[in-house]
Amino acid sequence: MKKIFFVALALALLVCVSAASADVVIAFSQIGQESDWRTANTDDLKSAIENHPGWKLVYDDGQQKQENQIKALRNFITQNVDYILFTGVVSTGWDEVLKEVNEAEIPLLLIDRIPDCADKIDYVAAFGGDFVEEGRRQVAWAGEYLKKIGKGDTDVNIVIMEGTTGASAQTGRTEGNLKALKEYPHLKLVGQQSGNFTRAEGQAVMESWLKSIDKIDVLIAQNDDMALGAIDAIKAAGKVPGKDIIILGCDSVKAAFDSIVAGEMNCTVECTPLYGKFVVPTIEALIRGEKFDKTVVHPEEGVFDMDGGIDLGTVKSIKAADVIATRQY
Ligand code: AHR
Repeated sequence: MKKIFFVALALALLVCVSAASADVVIAFSQIGQESDWRTANTDDLKSAIENHPGWKLVYDDGQQKQENQIKALRNFITQNVDYILFTGVVSTGWDEVLKEVNEAEIPLLLIDRIPDCADKIDYVAAFGGDFVEEGRRQVAWAGEYLKKIGKGDTDVNIVIMEGTTGASAQTGRTEGNLKALKEYPHLKLVGQQSGNFTRAEGQAVMESWLKSIDKIDVLIAQNDDMALGAIDAIKAAGKVPGKDIIILGCDSVKAAFDSIVAGEMNCTVECTPLYGKFVVPTIEALIRGEKFDKTVVHPEEGVFDMDGGIDLGTVKSIKAADVIATRQY
């Protein structure tokens, strides 16, 4: 009898110890790797989760395809992971699969691109860029800079290179770009096309614009990668980027800072990819049983350029060279 009691006790202890040391499994459905921003975002979240004691990451790269991301989310449900981090390549078409996540009662954290159905589903926390404001800042910077260099009343031809069609980062920035253009009537929109957030497509779109549009004075690229690709095309066409054509990007990746310091890009509007510092304390708090409001938190972001001091209402631009050494991505 005594022997049976001790065996049972040992088994119970074993169950307790293994339950206490079981990993918290966090699954992350990422869009793909289209840009420097995306690489920084993946690296940041991966290291934040993998370096956390007791946490295990299940990562899936959607290769820019919605169907891959839907499949990944369903796999996460089958694996019965503890938390799901999600950003969607486009903003629509997630209702069904995210409802399945809700039905499986897996807490969902939305990051970066918030899906259109966010109001109709349950999520425990959301962190994403204020894309409309980023788009507004781009045009406002161009308008205010032109005033500063004495071209405030001159008609200026502007092209907008958009991100992946249907991504909230594209729809939001386009909305912000177009609304702000109304405040600067001398900025004439002469081209608007997607460069799919990649360097290669940014270069190709700029090449074709340089052949088909008589005069381009300002390029607004909805991310830095496309701006950098466009710079290659501008140089190949014998023009001087940053002077013959004023160039704005978005994201504020290291390569954009280098380009600004080299005098080729004029401005980059920040969109931070560093969500690890938000996600980790949030999951820790959820584990403790805390709850969060169903709101989207936008991190504070800056605007960086050649000289600094351009007032954009909500923020003043900062000279890129002054802060380049402190940049993390
Ligand atoms: O959703 C954020 C956007 O996605 C970044 O601006 C872009 O570079 C990325 O691909």
